[in-house]
Amino acid sequence: MSDLAGKKVLLGVCGGISAYKVAELARLLVKAGADVKVMMTESGQKFVTPLTFRTLTGNPVATTLWSDPGSPFPHISMSDEADLIVVAPATANIIAKMAGGIADDLLSTTLLAARGTVIVAPAMNTRMYLNPATRNNMRRIGEMGAIIVEGCEGELACRTEGAGRMAEPAEIMSAIERELSLSADLDSRRILVTAGPTREYIDPVRFLSNPSTGMMGYAVAERAARRGARVTLISGPVDVPCPAGVTLISVVSAAEMLTSVLENLEGSEVLVMAAAVADYTPVEKSASKMKKTGGVPELKFEATDDILKAVAPRKDGRIVVGFAAETDDVVANARKKLAEKKLDLIVANKVGEAGSGFGSTTDLAAVVSVDDPDPALVLVSKTELADLLLDRIRGLFT
Ligand code: CTP
Repeated sequence: MSDLAGKKVLLGVCGGISAYKVAELARLLVKAGADVKVMMTESGQKFVTPLTFRTLTGNPVATTLWSDPGSPFPHISMSDEADLIVVAPATANIIAKMAGGIADDLLSTTLLAARGTVIVAPAMNTRMYLNPATRNNMRRIGEMGAIIVEGCEGELACRTEGAGRMAEPAEIMSAIERELSLSADLDSRRILVTAGPTREYIDPVRFLSNPSTGMMGYAVAERAARRGARVTLISGPVDVPCPAGVTLISVVSAAEMLTSVLENLEGSEVLVMAAAVADYTPVEKSASKMKKTGGVPELKFEATDDILKAVAPRKDGRIVVGFAAETDDVVANARKKLAEKKLDLIVANKVGEAGSGFGSTTDLAAVVSVDDPDPALVLVSKTELADLLLDRIRGLFT
């Protein structure tokens, strides 16, 4: 039996063609020892019958608020008894209902009544997925604590390619296993995380920056908070929702990030510098917009302060972690930074390759310390990488 023996999982199945893949997810969960109850929306039942899930799970399938004479409140009893709720496929509609607190059927009412963790696996047409209303709703449910497991771009049922495809059952299964085996092993540890790019303004409308999306730093903040840590996240401008329970400090420039890190260092036991801090900033910042009539500007840059180097003399027993995004000699270059910046750990990360680096949900990466023999880079999701890093950090506490 796996980790899931005896765990109770409530699976909410909505109306999307990938509902057929959720039958496979139910099978994987049952095989791993979980007790799986399924709740289906009306449209969910148009794609897969309740009998399929009844057969796979051995449990009756709930379809309406009114069907169970044994329990007049199935939305309360079923959410109370579940260790975890998983909504898959999660349509734009159920995500909107979750974001807006709408309770007009069994699943939406159950989700509104739920106290525990909810994993959401979105699946919809690309245009619906990219619609600002859906983006806002996804951001909102993320802020409210839902874990969103997104799939890679790919072929959709509507014969188009793009975002909105549901994550594969194995990926959703990994997220479930991670969540259910999670312990509060970082209980009350005070962790400071930086994330995202910085912007170095040239004039009020132009800046020097980089493609960092903040996903890595936000994943570290989110996982640390879920593992019980008290997390402060200092972030450059990004489009990622602040994880539930995390204190967010927004900054723009490298200089602001430095000031904020130094201000918050005192109260922290760990610093994780996942931000992609600009190395250069313009010497002069024009107060008004530079006009083309002034000709092509000749810009002069100066180096920004290296935040990790500024932190090194103030380490004072703190665990300090850096990231090294490298195109070549990834581990060797990371080791140099580990030594130069007096770090306890560094995440060596390959950039410039599909499936790794800026904007990717996965990374080809390794966590390296001075004592480690050279590790091989492994392809992991940013969430898995965050957990691997936090495992190493936890090891340094003991
Ligand atoms: N970093 C920092 N302050 C800076 C620049 C980078 O603290 N001004 C941190 C990053 O957050 C990261 C680590 O240093 O944790 C390595 O960043 P990276 O950009 O890979 O390295 P650099 O030191 O800038 O070296 P290079 O750009 O030459 O590779």
